[in-house]
Amino acid sequence: MNRPAPVDHAHHPHLSGLFAPQREEVDVHDLEVEGDLPRDLNGSYLRNGPNPRFDPIGTYVYPIDGDGMVHRVQITDGSVRYTNRFVRTPRLVAEEKAGRALWAGITDPYFPPEEEVGPDLANTMRELPDINVVSHAGRLLALAEAAPPYALGSDLETLGRETFGGTLPVGLTAHPKIDPRTGEMVAFCYMLDPPYLTWSVFAPDGTVTRAPTPIDGADRPLMIHDMALTPTYIVLVLAPLVFDLAQVFSGGSPLDWRPELGTRIALVPRDGGAVRWFSTDTFWVWHTANAFDLPGGDVALDYVEWCYPGALTRQREPNRSTLSRAVIGRNGVTRTVLYERDMEFPRIDDRSTTLDHRVVATIGKSVSSNLPPGAADSLCWFDVRADTEAVWTHDSLAPGEPILMPGGGEDFWGTIATDREDMSSWFLIFPASDPASGPLARVRLPIRVPAGLHGAWVPAS
Ligand SMILES: [Fe+2]
Repeated sequence: MNRPAPVDHAHHPHLSGLFAPQREEVDVHDLEVEGDLPRDLNGSYLRNGPNPRFDPIGTYVYPIDGDGMVHRVQITDGSVRYTNRFVRTPRLVAEEKAGRALWAGITDPYFPPEEEVGPDLANTMRELPDINVVSHAGRLLALAEAAPPYALGSDLETLGRETFGGTLPVGLTAHPKIDPRTGEMVAFCYMLDPPYLTWSVFAPDGTVTRAPTPIDGADRPLMIHDMALTPTYIVLVLAPLVFDLAQVFSGGSPLDWRPELGTRIALVPRDGGAVRWFSTDTFWVWHTANAFDLPGGDVALDYVEWCYPGALTRQREPNRSTLSRAVIGRNGVTRTVLYERDMEFPRIDDRSTTLDHRVVATIGKSVSSNLPPGAADSLCWFDVRADTEAVWTHDSLAPGEPILMPGGGEDFWGTIATDREDMSSWFLIFPASDPASGPLARVRLPIRVPAGLHGAWVPAS
C-alpha cells in the first residue's frame, strides 16, 4: 500500500487556527502575573491534547488523532512556571528520527512497512496518549483511549508505557475516576474482541487490586469514552457507536453509529456483584460530570448528552447538547434536561467525585460563535442544586477545560485560553465564589497552547 498524501492542514479546522500544532517545547520560570495571584494556591495545572509532531498523512480525525503534548502551569509560592513536552511513544521517536510522519491517521488503513520502522513497529497502530493526564499514587499518566498510558517524570519527560507490572497490557480508559474517600482509582477498558469491556481498581499506593474483570452483558465492541463512579457502582453509558474494522479496508470509518440499537447503561457493583443493565432511547455521551447514590438504591448521573457522536458519524442533522441527569434504578432510566446550551468538558470539584455535587463547570459557546467542535468562547458554571447558571464569555479568548483548584480556604477555577486575534495563550484563574466576574489573575504563557482536551490540578505536596 502506498504512503498516503499529506492532510491539507491549512484548511483543516482542527489543524489550523486555535488547533494549529505547537512543535516547540519550553520550560520557562517566573512568568509575569497580571492581577492578584491567590496567595495560598500552590500546585500544577496539567493539560493534555492532540498535537501532531509532524504534518499528518492520510486522515486526521478530531478528537482521536494526534500526538500527545502535556502542558503544565506550576504555581509555587507566587512564582509561575510553564513547561510543555510531547509524550514520546516509540512511534513518535521513530518519526523524529525520520523527520516526518510515518503513521497515517487512525481511520486510514495504511501502516508503515518493516523496512521503514523495523520489525517491532511494522504494521502496528499509532498510540494516542493525547486525551488526558492524571496523577495517582505518585504516577503522572498521559492517557489514551482504551490503551496503555504513558508515565511522565517530574519534568514531563516520557518514562515509558505503563502496564502496571503487566497486569493491564490492554490498557485503560482516558477517563478513570479517583474516589476521594478511598483514594482508589477505578477504570474501565473497552476492546474489539470478547469480553469487549472490563473494569479495574488501583489502590491508593498504585497496586492493582482488581485485575481487568469482564463486564457480563457487554455483547459487542463499542466506543465508550468516559465513565462515572459512585460509592457503590461504576456507571457506564453504552451508546451504539460500534467498531467495524472491516469498513476501514473498504475505505470507510472504523466506527458505525447504529441508533436502532438504543443506548444501554450498566451499573457495575464495585463489590463485584452482578451487573445491572438498563435500556433507554438512543443518545450519545462523550463526558460525564459525576454520579452519586440516591436513597433507595437508585443512581443519579449528570452528563453532557448529544443526539449522536458528531464527526464520527455520517449524520449531519442538528446535534444539540444538554447538561442532563439520568436517574437509574427501580424505574429504569429517567432522563431530565438540566440546562440546554452548546457545552462540553463538564467538570466538578474533584473532591465531590462519587458524592452529591453542587456545581458543574463546562466550556461553552455563545449563540453567535462559529467555532469548530472542541473550541469555545465561554465558561459556564451550573449550580445543579440551586438551579442557577453563571457564564463568562470573552470576545477573543477561547478557554479550555475548567479545573477546580482548591486554595487555602478559597477555591478557584483554572483554564488555559488562547486569544483568537493574536494567538497569545493565557492561564486564567477565576474565583469559584463568583466565576462569572472573570479572571482575578492571568498569566501570559511563553508560547501558544493549542486548544486541547483534559487535565488535572495536582496540589503541591
Ligand atoms: Fe474526553
